[in-house]
Amino acid sequence: MDIVLTKKLITPKEACEWASSFLGRDISESNISYLIQYGKIKKYGENGNTQINVYDLKNYYQSFNGTREIEWKKKLGNDLNWNLSFDNLREKDTTKHVHRLHPYKGKFIPQLVEYFIDNHTDNFKQKSFFKKGDIILDPFSGSGTTLVQANELGIHSIGIDVSQFNCMITDTKLLDYNLDSLIEEIRNINLVITKFETDGKIEEFEKELYFELTRFNNKNFPSPEFKRKIYKREIDENKYSVEKEKDFLNIYKKLIAKYKIELKQNKNKNFLDKWYIKNIREEIDFAFDQIKKVEDGKNKRILAVILSRTIRSCRATTHSDLATLKEPQITTYYCWKHKKICKPLFSIKYWFNRYANDTITRIKEFQRLKNGTHWASIAGDSRTVDVAREIKLRNKKFYKLFEIQKIKGIFSSPPYVGQIDYHEQHAYAYDLFGFERKDELEIGPLCKGQGMEAKKSYVKGISQVLLNSKKFLSNNFDVFLVANDKWNLYPQIAEKAGMRIVNQYKRPVLNRTERGKSPYSEIIFHFKNI
Ligand SMILES: C[S@@+](CC[C@H](N)C(=O)[O-])C[C@H]1O[C@@H](n2cnc3c(N)ncnc32)[C@H](O)[C@@H]1O
Repeated sequence: MDIVLTKKLITPKEACEWASSFLGRDISESNISYLIQYGKIKKYGENGNTQINVYDLKNYYQSFNGTREIEWKKKLGNDLNWNLSFDNLREKDTTKHVHRLHPYKGKFIPQLVEYFIDNHTDNFKQKSFFKKGDIILDPFSGSGTTLVQANELGIHSIGIDVSQFNCMITDTKLLDYNLDSLIEEIRNINLVITKFETDGKIEEFEKELYFELTRFNNKNFPSPEFKRKIYKREIDENKYSVEKEKDFLNIYKKLIAKYKIELKQNKNKNFLDKWYIKNIREEIDFAFDQIKKVEDGKNKRILAVILSRTIRSCRATTHSDLATLKEPQITTYYCWKHKKICKPLFSIKYWFNRYANDTITRIKEFQRLKNGTHWASIAGDSRTVDVAREIKLRNKKFYKLFEIQKIKGIFSSPPYVGQIDYHEQHAYAYDLFGFERKDELEIGPLCKGQGMEAKKSYVKGISQVLLNSKKFLSNNFDVFLVANDKWNLYPQIAEKAGMRIVNQYKRPVLNRTERGKSPYSEIIFHFKNI
């Protein structure tokens, strides 16, 4: 049947028939109503008389998003909830306000939290689970996404994380600052850091290096011609890059000798010793000493987080290895990401200034949305922590509320088996701040692998967390756990925790494939009391 040739506006039922024959597979009426509900195609007519423009439908299925959706559903199953892909969002939205105060590997997007804890309903979420004034718990709170979103929605929140540094990031996102005093403090610190000179020759050296580098890159890696030549395979990038890298190294070495720059630190005991060029390390220590002198506790904490973000960007590594450090890079190198010769950093000044300004902007943005809810971020092991005691110690008013209404539910993304070492990803911050590391208490760390033993201990660990949390939850609780459960461990976890899975929302995770990895989905498990 080719409706396209006969008429333009069709009913949802006709749309199913048309789409099924166009795509060569079954398209249900709920697929069509989903497209209407999420604004992917326009709706004509009113109640009971809905019509669709068949050309809209065709355009959607032929568009990038439409084709991708079809492809993914073929690979990952038709039960994928495409509206949970949040493919309409820009990076700017997913990293809105305080969510980008500090990098954190393993963060979930705020819109996913919002979707489940706000009070809207739709085809997939047919009931709302949390309301203003409830208390929500995230026993794996990481960098605090759930707590921040709960605050935006007027929901009180409790976060627990075994990594003290993660709790510090969370705190700084939620604290109420006196902005005038914070801006003043940031200005002062910025000023002393800018004036600080460990090595008077560094600035001159960097100027000359920059000049030479620009000249060399313009000549040997002209943009965009160079990239086009690689694309057309007119240049052998492997061979050419090695040659040019070597050529520039000669210039670099001469400059290092001319300005008598010391690159290496004399010690090699910890992360800070190994991963920073000597001048950077001296600037870091100096900046931290200045921050320690700040009297206001909140200002001190946010300044420390700015410094931590700065030093993460200033590690001696290549641009392509920022996420997975390999070896310290203390010389210039051919950069596979930027397709030219790049250099390591020699000073933190630029980045500290930039992140300090960015932090102020983000805090201001969040202040406009903030509600005066209670929140608590607890550094501890969620298997054993006494939540009631911790709340009582911190905030009497919150405790009173907690005693009356208990916790309404959980929204959390637990670690998965053998994926990330959460303490290690912030090793530089642990070294700098001297926090105690509790790596051995992490559930499912990367270092323990993905073998049978690791999986067994993971199932035990997550169910213990749920059992412990249950003590503080109201009877009619709703627990939402986000997991890419490729080994189907969550049914066992639910059973061990005395809970039942009442729903599973399957969402495509898009950003990974854009980096060339295969499509994958994660499930938001909805657990309730048995
Ligand atoms: C996937 S991350 C959570 C990320 C978080 N949803 C966010 O958006 O930032 C999992 C977190 O669980 C924490 N964790 C691991 N074992 C834990 C334990 N025994 N108790 C509490 N937290 C733990 C890790 O430190 C990590 O921050």
